[in-house]
Amino acid sequence: MDQSVKAMLLEQPAVSVNPLYHILCNCSSGYKTFCILNAAIELKIFDYLDTPQTSESLAETLNLNPDFCYRILAYLKELNLVEENNRAYQNSELSRCYLHSKAAFSQHNVVKNIHNGFKVWEQLREIVKNGPISANESTFFADNLIHSLAEEALCGELQKVVGIIKKLPQFAKARSLLDLGGGHGLYSIALTAANSALRADVYDFPNVIEDTKKYIDRFCADRVDTLAGNYFKDTLHKTYDIILFSYSPGGKNPEMVPKICDWLNPAGILISKHCFYRRDEVSKSRLLDIEWNLLSFEGVSKDNNIYSFCGDYSLESYLELLKKMFVIQDIVHAPDFSGQQLDKIGDALDSILIIAKKK
Ligand SMILES: C[S@@+](CC[C@H](N)C(=O)[O-])C[C@H]1O[C@@H](n2cnc3c(N)ncnc32)[C@H](O)[C@@H]1O
Repeated sequence: MDQSVKAMLLEQPAVSVNPLYHILCNCSSGYKTFCILNAAIELKIFDYLDTPQTSESLAETLNLNPDFCYRILAYLKELNLVEENNRAYQNSELSRCYLHSKAAFSQHNVVKNIHNGFKVWEQLREIVKNGPISANESTFFADNLIHSLAEEALCGELQKVVGIIKKLPQFAKARSLLDLGGGHGLYSIALTAANSALRADVYDFPNVIEDTKKYIDRFCADRVDTLAGNYFKDTLHKTYDIILFSYSPGGKNPEMVPKICDWLNPAGILISKHCFYRRDEVSKSRLLDIEWNLLSFEGVSKDNNIYSFCGDYSLESYLELLKKMFVIQDIVHAPDFSGQQLDKIGDALDSILIIAKKK
């Protein structure tokens, strides 16, 4: 036998495989765990584990293979998503709160959004060869993303941001608010709940607005209305005490600044929450830069980095421009308002919340 072949069989590889297997192990367990969680949701396992059930009775109720049903429950128990007592399984507190389809904080759309993302990621090889898949921007938001963002916001960011806005001296006096690119409208819904004299308009694309109305109905928000349009193209014939502009494509675009100024009452407040790039910044997340570029939208010129669009200003330039029309009252950083990270579009990353008063 050749000496080098002999060495290959008898000696450890010169370079340890451990760092590679560490990466692969994370992929392997993460992907399989996701498949189990997604299947459990789609099979309505968490909906039926409201009350304790044996694995056999659950399998019979849901028409599942009894052996698989047991194995899935045993793994969900390892994840602390179900509890077992005398062979009876039941949702843990975490699942009751987030994984039951009827739970107030249900995360089913977040799981669906991650799943939809995987379906696009699976086409990466073709995308790398042929470029991004083209999609329709407004249907992309309306399909599922807006519902996922609503569920993510309800887990903490919404309440923290509303808490910050509530403390502004101008908030108690405000009577009108425009939620530009408001999507689900939860910020308007929560802010009108915090100020009983406040009325809000949620502005978004016409088909997104259809979903906004469902959130308005769900929360019985009778002081929230909707306005359909495209803020880059259309104009508004009303002015407001507060404009909230959160995580929307025009958030770093200089053209929007004078428009927003025009749509504000004298001494009105702009609250802008966006992920800005500093002049010399190269990337915030190499992984999410790839995710950002998997899809292209007709009429929307995305730039290379996550949440960046052609024509966006850097943070420095944007603040300079803003200062011409506004007095900046405060800048709040992501750790003081953002929710948990999911390594997908929707993460706050190092976003900032700018509070500025019209001059
Ligand atoms: C990422 S979502 C943010 C939703 C919400 N403001 C939040 O912070 O969770 C961006 C929203 O901006 C809306 N949007 C994007 N471009 C728009 C435009 N040109 N005119 C109106 N709405 C737009 C999208 O439809 C979507 O609802």
